Amino acid sequence: MALYSIPYVQVAKQYAEEREELEAVIQDVLANRSHVADPLVDELEEELTAYCGTKYAIALNSGTDALMFAMTTAGIKPGDEVITPPNSFVASTSTIVHIGAKPVFADVLPDQNIDPDAVEAAITPRTKAIMAVHLTGRVCQMDRLQKIADKHGLIIIEDAAQSIGSKYNGKKSGSFGVAGCFSTHPLKNLNACGDGGFITTSNAEIANRVRRMRAHGMSDRVTVEEWGFVSRMDTLQAAILKFRLKNLQSVIDRRRANAKYYQENLNHPCIFFPADRKEEYNTFHTFVIQVQGHRDALQTHLAKLGIKTTIHYPIPIHLQPAAKSLGYKKGDFAVTESQSEKILTLPVNQYITRADQDAVIKETLTFMNQVSQNTERKIG
Ligand SMILES: Cc1ncc(COP(=O)(O)O)c(C=O)c1O
Repeated sequence: MALYSIPYVQVAKQYAEEREELEAVIQDVLANRSHVADPLVDELEEELTAYCGTKYAIALNSGTDALMFAMTTAGIKPGDEVITPPNSFVASTSTIVHIGAKPVFADVLPDQNIDPDAVEAAITPRTKAIMAVHLTGRVCQMDRLQKIADKHGLIIIEDAAQSIGSKYNGKKSGSFGVAGCFSTHPLKNLNACGDGGFITTSNAEIANRVRRMRAHGMSDRVTVEEWGFVSRMDTLQAAILKFRLKNLQSVIDRRRANAKYYQENLNHPCIFFPADRKEEYNTFHTFVIQVQGHRDALQTHLAKLGIKTTIHYPIPIHLQPAAKSLGYKKGDFAVTESQSEKILTLPVNQYITRADQDAVIKETLTFMNQVSQNTERKIG
C-alpha cells in the first residue's frame, strides 16, 4: 500500500460536489430540449462572450476544431507560415498542418510561453500569423507579440485552450487576437463531460463563417454555401458548461491559492518555477516545476508514494515522428528541449487538500535534498 493517495485530477470529487444541480441540468436537456442546436447553446455563447470580453463566442465540439476554424476563417491559406511554439499540446501544430499551412517553430521563454524575440527571428515573407499558446494558464507577452504582428502585418491567433479566465494587463485571454480558441475538455478549468471547445472573436465575418462551418457549411436549412463539417457543441455539453461557468471563478480562486502555496513552500535550489509577473493573472490549468536533474527519478519516487504527477509535454513537437517532414532536428530549440527534460506537473486541482499539498512538498524536498547531497558527495 502506498503511503498517500494523491491523484492528479479529481473528476469524481467534482461530480460529488455538483451532483444534485448537475443532474437536474442534464435531466432538463434530456426531457425538454433539442439535443443539437437548442437555444441553450446560444445562451452559453452569450455568457462566454460576456466572460471573455469579445463580441462573439461560437461553441464547437473541440478546441482542435476551434483552432482549425479560426485559422481558416482568418484567411490563413495553404502554403502560409504560422509561427508557433514547439512545446505545446500537439493540436497547436497539427491544426496548422491540417489546413495546409506550414508550422514554423519559435523557442520559448523560461516561463514556457513563446519568446517574442524568437518569433521575430522566425518571420519570413510567407509568414501570415503568430499562434500565441497561453500554456499552463499564463497569457503570453501579448504587448510585445502585438507590436511584432503590427510591424510585420501579421495576425495573431490565440490558443487559449488552457487559459480561460487568465488575464494580461487586465485583459482576458481570447480577446487579444483575431480569434481565441478554447478547449472545454474534461481536464480543463471550465470542463464539459466530453469534448468541447469554442472560438471567441470580435470579427463578425469570422463568427458567421465559423457558425456555418460547424454545421455542414449551411447558411440555412437548405443552402450549402461551402463544404463544411459537423462540429457543433451538443446541448448536453453546453448545459453542463453553462452550469459550471457560474462556478468558474471559485475554481480559479482555489487553483490560484493552491499554486501560491506551492510557490511559497517549494523552495529548493534545483527547483524552478516562473514567478507571476504583475501584469499576469494566471489561472493555473497546470502547475509546472522545472527540476534540475533527477526529474524522472523524482516522478517515479512520488508515484511509489502514491503521489500522481504528469509531464506536459515530454517530447517537443518538432521531435515527434509526425513532424519529420517539417525538417527540424534535436538541438533546434534549446530552451524547449531542456525544459522537456525538467518539467513536472504537480496536482493543483481545486480539490487537493492542504495536507496533500504538504505531502507533495515534503516528499519532493526530501527527495531533492537526498539526491543533491549524493551528487555533492560524488563530486566531492
Ligand atoms: C494548448 C492546447 N491546444 C489545443 C488543445 C486541443 O483542445 P481539444 O482537446 O479540446 O481538442 C488543447 C487541449 O488539450 C491544449 O491544451
